[in-house]
This record gives sequence, C-alpha cells and structure tokens, in this order.
Amino acid sequence: MSKGRRLRRAAAAGGQLTERTLTEGWAGPARIRVRQAIPADLPAIAELAPLAGVQLDDALAEAVRDGSSGAGLRTGIRQGQLDFQRHMAIEFATGGVVSAYLHASLVLVADHRDQGVVGTLLAYPPGNLVTELVRSGLISLSEQSGQQTTMLASVTLTKIKAVAVAEHARGQGVGAALLKRCKQIYFHCGYMLLYGQMPPTPGLDAFYRRSGFEVQQPGEPIDLWVVLGIHANAVPGADERIFHRRQLPG
Ligand SMILES: CC(C)(COP(=O)(O)OP(=O)(O)OC[C@H]1O[C@@H](n2cnc3c(N)ncnc32)[C@H](O)[C@@H]1OP(=O)(O)O)[C@@H](O)C(=O)NCCC(=O)NCCS
Repeated sequence: MSKGRRLRRAAAAGGQLTERTLTEGWAGPARIRVRQAIPADLPAIAELAPLAGVQLDDALAEAVRDGSSGAGLRTGIRQGQLDFQRHMAIEFATGGVVSAYLHASLVLVADHRDQGVVGTLLAYPPGNLVTELVRSGLISLSEQSGQQTTMLASVTLTKIKAVAVAEHARGQGVGAALLKRCKQIYFHCGYMLLYGQMPPTPGLDAFYRRSGFEVQQPGEPIDLWVVLGIHANAVPGADERIFHRRQLPG
C-alpha cells in the first residue's frame, strides 16, 4: 500500500471528517466502511430501509443519483458552518424548499469488504414537521417569519429517518458506527438537534442510549422551542418513542 493511501486510511480510522473520508469511508467494526451512498447502492438501500419501517422515497433516491443529496453538508465539511448556511440560503432562493432540504440530506451505507452494503442510515431535515406547523397555523409560508422558520429548521434540525442493518450483520457495532458518523457530520455543520422516532422494539432504547441519545417515554413529544424559537412539538406516533441528541451552542 502506498504511503498516501496508508495515511488516508489512518485519517479515516481516526475519525477525521473530510469530503474524502465521507466519500471513501471510515473504517468501522466487522470489516465495514461507513461512507456516503452512491447511485449503485440504491437497490441495497431500498431493500434495507423497510427493516426500519421506511421506504426509500423517490426524491431522495433521485438526489443520490444526481449528487444533490448532501451537497450542502459537503460544503459545510469543506468550508465550515457559515458556508454551509450560505449554501442552504442560496438553494432555498434558487431551488426551493424541497431542493434545499435534499441538499441537507444524508444517506450513509455500511459497506462490508466482501458482502457489499449491509447497513444504511437515512436522515434529513423534517419537512413533515414544517408542513404540520403550517397546517396548525403556527407559521405561514406567505410571511417572512414563516419562511425564516422553514429555513432555520433546515440548518438546525434533522430527523434520523432510518437506521437499518441486515440481520446477519447485527450486534457487531455497525448500527452504532452509522449513528456516530451521522452525529459527526450534522454537528460539524452546526445542527443543534438530531432526533427520530422508534417503535417499541425491546432493546432499541438501549441501542440509542449507548450512542448518546436521550429516549422519551412512549408518546411523549419534544418541544423545539430551544431550536426554532417557537413552541412547536415533535410528536411521536401512539406507541412510538422519540430519541434525540442535542448540541446547543456555547
Ligand atoms: C437497530 C439496528 C439498526 C441496530 O444495528 P446493529 O448493527 O445490530 O447495532 P449495534 O451492533 O451497534 O448495537 C446492537 C445493540 O442494539 C440493541 N438492539 C438493537 N435492535 C435490537 C433489536 N431489534 N432487538 C434487540 N436488541 C436490539 C441491542 O442492545 C444490541 O446490543 P447487543 O448486541 O449487546 O445485544 C438493527 O437491529 C436493525 O436494523 N433493526 C431493524 C431496524 C430498526 O428497528 N431500526 C431502528 C428503527 S428507529
């Protein structure tokens, strides 16, 4: 192995966050590398995501294909938080809300040396939550304050939509490795809250707690005041639990 390649491997294993480590992957447990998804991974992702009760939606798949998925995050990784926010503001103005949210989406895979993709993580700012805020009259998209909240949500809040590992690869830290890189990337870009909803499967709460997330009681909402400046609740489904991890400034 060349010296450059050895150094890159070492940097990846050490957990450095660069565009290159995101693309080439960080060495993880059980002979996997965690990396950003490429179009060729989409069939495997579409097969894994339903294990977490989620279908890979067409817009996200298309964004992986055309490279716009995570484009904002890559700017943040390369140039820092301010440029990430600038990228998002420009995308809002030129591409619109959906496109901007896709620029902040993250699709990771756990790629096994011999078996290919054995795990995936899908995350993006919570468009549904914004729709709900509009529906309940808390914000209006025709007002500047409503547009600002929509923009603010996309650069401060992200929802972990799915973490899924093939059954034969579970219990070796693959799921934890996917969560670790997800936190590292979003917190680097200045996000304040990562959250998701989990079904009442025994053991899942321990899985998220071990990765540093807090887990709410079944049905218990979280108030997004501290992030959005309005008392908006993220509410889980009837028997679901919210898991969340905050990184507040200061
Ligand atoms: C949850 C999941 C991603 C964990 O992946 P993983 O690679 O096995 O995770 P890790 O090896 O890092 O951690 C394993 C730990 O998670 C916990 N755990 C996670 N899912 C569990 C389940 N379905 N049953 C029991 N324990 C589970 C256990 O505490 C386990 O620890 P153990 O190995 O000491 O028993 C994987 O079990 C999975 O894909 N489940 C189906 C999809 C799903 O439920 N996703 C979460 C929806 S929000």
